[in-house]
Amino acid sequence: MTTRPSGACVAVRPLAQLTTLRVGGPAEVWEVDDVTAARDATSEPFLALGAGSNLLVSDAGVDQRVVKLGRGFDDVRTFGSDTDVWLGAATPLPGLVRRARDAGLSGLEAVLGIPAVLGGAIAMNAGTRHGEISDVLQEVELLVDGSVERLPASALDLQYRRAHLPSGALLLRARLTLTPSTPERVAAAMAPVDAARAGQPKATSAGCAFKNPEGDSAGRLIDAAGLKGLRVGDAMVSHEHANFIVNLGQATAADVDALLAEVQRRVSVPLEVEWRRWGY
Ligand code: FAD
Ligand code: EPU
Repeated sequence: MTTRPSGACVAVRPLAQLTTLRVGGPAEVWEVDDVTAARDATSEPFLALGAGSNLLVSDAGVDQRVVKLGRGFDDVRTFGSDTDVWLGAATPLPGLVRRARDAGLSGLEAVLGIPAVLGGAIAMNAGTRHGEISDVLQEVELLVDGSVERLPASALDLQYRRAHLPSGALLLRARLTLTPSTPERVAAAMAPVDAARAGQPKATSAGCAFKNPEGDSAGRLIDAAGLKGLRVGDAMVSHEHANFIVNLGQATAADVDALLAEVQRRVSVPLEVEWRRWGY
């Protein structure tokens, strides 16, 4: 690892170590803890990495540098009882959801159980049937072409699992507005969200592989096509939830990719991959 004069820490790392699916080849990873380091890291084309929970990275890795926000952008420790908060984009969502509940603040119940950091949750507009991060997002702070800019959430055109960030933008911070409630009421609102997750596998995955087609569920369609347990190498369609592809241990990106294609081939309705694919 080398540390640049800007403070950015640079190391070549297998992205399998930084993604929840545990596949993917090497990249030059730039970890940054402040805007100066982030400016240095984004001075050339880059890919922004959050918690790596929605990524399929090719076995060959990626040529671009990968920029990961470090602890300087993780504000979960300072999350208090204010209803209007600016939080760093590296703040892990699960801790944020817990802290909001404990502080009796409502608004994040729907994103319970999503293993993202805030930046990745906004870039994907992460959510469930109960709501999305866009429900509480007011404003974002971005680094674009070396300049820090603020944009209202409305400028990101947030839709189902989609946000339009300006090209080459690195999300640094976001302003969320929560609603005063009580820990008990927030916990009660979380119960159905938690229950909806009961059928999801705990095994190594990147969440749902495909977006739900309008009016239906990809999981239901893949299940109905009899594809649970379908396997390429160590990549398998989960027996628990058919829209999860799990890594049984030694799966490669090529295995996962071939399995995605086979599922798409065998399901009569076109299925769009939800994951971001890097290095293809
Ligand atoms: P990453 O996967 O690291 O990146 C995703 C995208 O965001 C990439 O394009 C990346 O470039 C971009 N990005 C990340 N950080 C930044 C930044 N700072 N600036 C600019 N762009 C950035 N998703 C749901 O929506 N609902 C669910 O219920 C759900 N359940 C899941 C359950 C499991 C077990 C797992 C493993 C995943 C699940 N997911 C779910 C998928 C995933 O957690 C979400 O898509 C999440 O939003 C990805 O966030 P991340 O921080 O991991 O981003
Ligand atoms: N179903 C099956 N077989 C399966 C899986 C599901 O028949 O193997 C059926 C269920 O019985 C149910 C329907 O399909 O009738 C919907 O299933 P579920 O409630 O599990 O929801 P989903 O549409 O599969 C969506 C999101 C999840 C989110 C859950 C909970 C997408 C692609 N998926 O799943 O998000 O956690 O709702 O709200 O939108 C993700 O995006 O990564 C993700 C996990």
